[in-house]
Amino acid sequence: MSALADSVPRMRPMKKTDLARVMAIETAIYTHPWTRGNFVDSLKAGYTCHVMQVSGKVIGYGVMTVAANEAHLLNLSIAGEWQRQGYGRSLLLYFIDTARRAGALQMLLEVRLSNFIGRSLYFSMGFYSVAIRPGYYPTQQGREDAIIMGLNL
Ligand SMILES: CC(C)(COP(=O)(O)OP(=O)(O)OC[C@H]1O[C@@H](n2cnc3c(N)ncnc32)[C@H](O)[C@@H]1OP(=O)(O)O)[C@@H](O)C(=O)NCCC(=O)NCCS
Repeated sequence: MSALADSVPRMRPMKKTDLARVMAIETAIYTHPWTRGNFVDSLKAGYTCHVMQVSGKVIGYGVMTVAANEAHLLNLSIAGEWQRQGYGRSLLLYFIDTARRAGALQMLLEVRLSNFIGRSLYFSMGFYSVAIRPGYYPTQQGREDAIIMGLNL
């Protein structure tokens, strides 16, 4: 297989057996990571939980709900050593496409005010600011606002 084919990301549903790798990524890239229980609950609830693989290795994942024509992207993550190579944008495009196919007309998400990289990715994909949720996220010092962002699908 060529090096190019090796770097092509593939998406598949998340399984419980992925959770060790998912948690290793999650705890490495977030100051306040989801717990294993959050992922287990999301799988049990039937949320759209999918992982991205490159050369058979899980390098990212996302979690989304779709209800009443509205998609809510709850988690979007790329492992640290795989960031800045276009995989985050591909992962987001995949969830946007999945939401559209499921009949959603809008996608919503929350992002930390301080998450410049996440906000920059979402703005570049056409997301707009909907509202501020004051003190939504915990920080080491106290609380931090969330920006609710939306995209018309
Ligand atoms: C946000 C995240 C998913 C982006 O994934 P990624 O694979 O690094 O992103 P990409 O390489 O596809 O870049 C997409 C865009 O993100 C932004 N971006 C990514 N890395 C950046 C950096 N270091 N500095 C500034 N902007 C950056 C840019 O807008 C970039 O577009 P460009 O390449 O045209 O400049 C990834 O950084 C991540 O998992 N971060 C930690 C978890 C997180 O914050 N998730 C979002 C929570 S709402």
